[in-house]
Amino acid sequence: MKMILKKRAPFLLDMSINMYYGLKDFSDMLLQRRDPLIPSTRLMFDGPRSIQDFKKNGADFLEYFINLCNLKPDGKVLDVGCGIGRKTLPLTQYLDSNGEYEGFDIIDLGINWCNKNITSKYPNFHFQKADVLNKYYNPNGKYKASEYKFPFEENYFDLVFLGSVFTHMLPNDLENYLSEVFRVLKSDGRCLISYFLINKNSLASIQSNISSINFQYDLEDYRTTDIDIPEDAVSYKESYIRNLYQKHYLEILEPINFGSWSGRDDYLDYQDLIIAKKP
Ligand SMILES: C[S@@+](CC[C@H](N)C(=O)[O-])C[C@H]1O[C@@H](n2cnc3c(N)ncnc32)[C@H](O)[C@@H]1O
Repeated sequence: MKMILKKRAPFLLDMSINMYYGLKDFSDMLLQRRDPLIPSTRLMFDGPRSIQDFKKNGADFLEYFINLCNLKPDGKVLDVGCGIGRKTLPLTQYLDSNGEYEGFDIIDLGINWCNKNITSKYPNFHFQKADVLNKYYNPNGKYKASEYKFPFEENYFDLVFLGSVFTHMLPNDLENYLSEVFRVLKSDGRCLISYFLINKNSLASIQSNISSINFQYDLEDYRTTDIDIPEDAVSYKESYIRNLYQKHYLEILEPINFGSWSGRDDYLDYQDLIIAKKP
């Protein structure tokens, strides 16, 4: 009996999770909580599986784009690692017909959903798949992130953002992406990128178990939660990231907005947000 249970455990777990999200989706539908431009919780592979969280996250980021990154309704925006459009929906109400949104990701699920549900109604919103390798998200990807060239021309975007993407990428991959961010940004354009940054305060929080994630493996410039699949969650030394921005000519707009993940009381968002400008 024990053996049978052990063998069946993953299957039973999967079945229970599916049933749970199925019921959640059904109650969301009955209570009319779900906008047709919000995916069902079952499909939210890219973050918290909740409609309220999905809406709040998009709304919060729209505020950052407007107030901290100077985004205008006719702006051109690139969302690298757009997932299933968590930060896209409020932009459909802000960008006008001269504005443009481009999103790319390495997972088909989100791209297909966004094309079907968002591009069909907002033709200036485009989504595409980039078959880039990531040991956690796309272990069979064809292209190396350390060599990948974003499929856009240089000096094109007013705003490039990456929400919780560098928190799943390793140093050489991150550096190439940062140089690509620089390349595709217009002069005076902004980038907003989220991180888990390691500095004196966050390290103290990790060591005393106050932070929400314990990056227990220390690999010099970065730390991770999983030594076999380090892209599971990655944090970077703040000094390392600052040097990279300098190397790639991106001017950090001070101060960095530190997040609540490290257990701080004063924070803007969950992750640390760096906003920078291409001179
Ligand atoms: C935690 S999710 C965040 C999704 C979305 N940016 C958001 O804020 O909701 C991380 C996303 O990064 C994507 N990703 C991971 N590595 C990537 C890469 N090298 N290039 C583009 N996207 C990547 C994953 O597929 C996933 O959708």
